[in-house]
Amino acid sequence: MLSARLQAVADRVLGPRHADVGSDHGLLPLDLVARLELVIAVEKHVGPFERCRLAVAGTAVEVRFGDGLDALEGGEVDSLSICGMGSLNMRDILERGREKLPAQLVLQPMDNAGPIRGWARRNGYHLQEESWIDPYVVLDLRAATGDDPAYAGLSEEAYFFGPLLLSNPDYVARQRAWLESLGRTDGRLEFLTRRVGS
Ligand SMILES: C[S@@+](CC[C@H](N)C(=O)[O-])C[C@H]1O[C@@H](n2cnc3c(N)ncnc32)[C@H](O)[C@@H]1O
Repeated sequence: MLSARLQAVADRVLGPRHADVGSDHGLLPLDLVARLELVIAVEKHVGPFERCRLAVAGTAVEVRFGDGLDALEGGEVDSLSICGMGSLNMRDILERGREKLPAQLVLQPMDNAGPIRGWARRNGYHLQEESWIDPYVVLDLRAATGDDPAYAGLSEEAYFFGPLLLSNPDYVARQRAWLESLGRTDGRLEFLTRRVGS
């Protein structure tokens, strides 16, 4: 059974041909292979690569050794996931593999997703959904033209909090309580306070 974090990722993946970069224990590819046409797991470190190969042995998951999208051909998959890494690392993987990126990206960073949101907006990916699985967020991004309408009327603090998550009152209240507990009195707290109108 997947953790709530990885289940939230699996729930968003469209496929039908999918690649997961940084699969490690292989749990996500193992889950996805039950319903998708093709699942490729990519690992760049020997230990996690071997762990993944063992975990998916006997299934149709294809495990490749490589750095990010270097292990893939352009047009080979329809969707891509990257989970459980820092957002700056994820952004670098996306940027380096830009020419090969598919139409759907499902991303679950371990820290603030701001750098990924900024990259996506500049590189033709719109936010379809932002899920909050406290304390994690999952971004479902789709290739699209023009500016992402999710940011319309919002200031740059939206990159930090997530423009779609701002309509979730529980999320906003939690972020606000967190900033207050830190004694923050800067623009981010003011931004959230304006959102909840108090
Ligand atoms: C902390 S694990 C996360 C495992 C799984 N995705 C999860 O969310 O539970 C991160 C994995 O990503 C792999 N990794 C990091 N950078 C990578 C890259 N550029 N290409 C392929 N794998 C990478 C690491 O080797 C490591 O096994």
